[in-house]
Amino acid sequence: EKIEWDFEAAEKAGYEHFMLKEIHEQVSAIHNTLAGKVSELEGKIDLKELNMTDEEIRKLSRVQILACGTSWHAGLLGKYLFEQLAGIHCDIDICSEYRYRSPVISDGTLAIAITQSGETADTLAAVREIMSYNCPTLAITNVVGSTITREANSVLYTRAGPEIGVAATKTFSTQLTLLYLLAVKFALSRGKLSPDYVKGFITGLRKIPGQIQQILNQKEAVKECAENFAHSDNYFFLGRNLNYPIALEGALKLKEISYLHAEGFAAGELKHGPIALLEKGTPVVTIATKGQTYDKVLSNIKEVKARDATVIAVADNKDTEIGKYADVVLTIPPSSELLSPLLSVVVLQLLAYYTALARGCSIDKPRNLAKSVTVE
Ligand code: AGP
Repeated sequence: EKIEWDFEAAEKAGYEHFMLKEIHEQVSAIHNTLAGKVSELEGKIDLKELNMTDEEIRKLSRVQILACGTSWHAGLLGKYLFEQLAGIHCDIDICSEYRYRSPVISDGTLAIAITQSGETADTLAAVREIMSYNCPTLAITNVVGSTITREANSVLYTRAGPEIGVAATKTFSTQLTLLYLLAVKFALSRGKLSPDYVKGFITGLRKIPGQIQQILNQKEAVKECAENFAHSDNYFFLGRNLNYPIALEGALKLKEISYLHAEGFAAGELKHGPIALLEKGTPVVTIATKGQTYDKVLSNIKEVKARDATVIAVADNKDTEIGKYADVVLTIPPSSELLSPLLSVVVLQLLAYYTALARGCSIDKPRNLAKSVTVE
């Protein structure tokens, strides 16, 4: 008797798509990224691969991040982290722009190239450009032996395991995890954070995989929301501060796999133009987790509601107020303001996935897109 063997189905391990499998794998992927790198007891972060002494970290005057697409969104959050936690000036560029804008590279700059594949042509070109000025370069990548690992001076691996779906999910959250570790490590070396603070930070970070699991356990709520708005013409995503890059990422995920028009904005920019696009019923996903900009985000929600648009809020499950303003509330377990982007993004990944599913799109291989873009 001949047994039919579907290799791809076997690899999907029971999930309908690689993307859904990879969204679920974030629980173990983040755990793997952290393995051997953090000591909760001592409040220490060990990044041997960085090859930098505390003295060298103290001497840094700037960080220059280079990336494209989703990796650029990770980098944008990284900029906020390096500046807010470690007090280091950080610039970020889209690689295809970097070479042509005649960048000025000052002494004491560390370049960080973020690329899950390690093969993105624009990123490699930007790295070659900055390395031609003898700027030390660290690569953050998921692929062992990829081109970037042979060119950069040092490499940090995300250790997310192979990502097959064209839409990056687990490689994004593990890139973020490494950027958190780097920023906190730099802050420690530069005396900006105490080991006690870092102990608390590590405790919070260690809880993230379990909290992602809790979000996955409630994915039906996100599915229902996705189905209700799957036939909208436009979708908007708003976030402030650390949630701004997450809003951009939510919009990119939705565009890529559901072919819906979606835009992410810094919530404060809404009134400077994009608000003109709002119509009755336009879904506006607003990241409204608790933090220093919560009140400002609530004001944005009210502005959106006043135009009869529909607010889908991503909020803490302990928030009893948000339901008064938002039409739909998708919840995450409460974590620190600092770490909550790692949770909010999972909700947005699920929203994109279930929207694409409801629209019958080719989720793992969206039209016109390749997993890595190897032409400039
Ligand atoms: C992410 O979902 C996209 N497929 C795309 O934006 C991607 O992040 C970009 O092409 C960069 O790829 P890299 O991380 O492999 O360099």
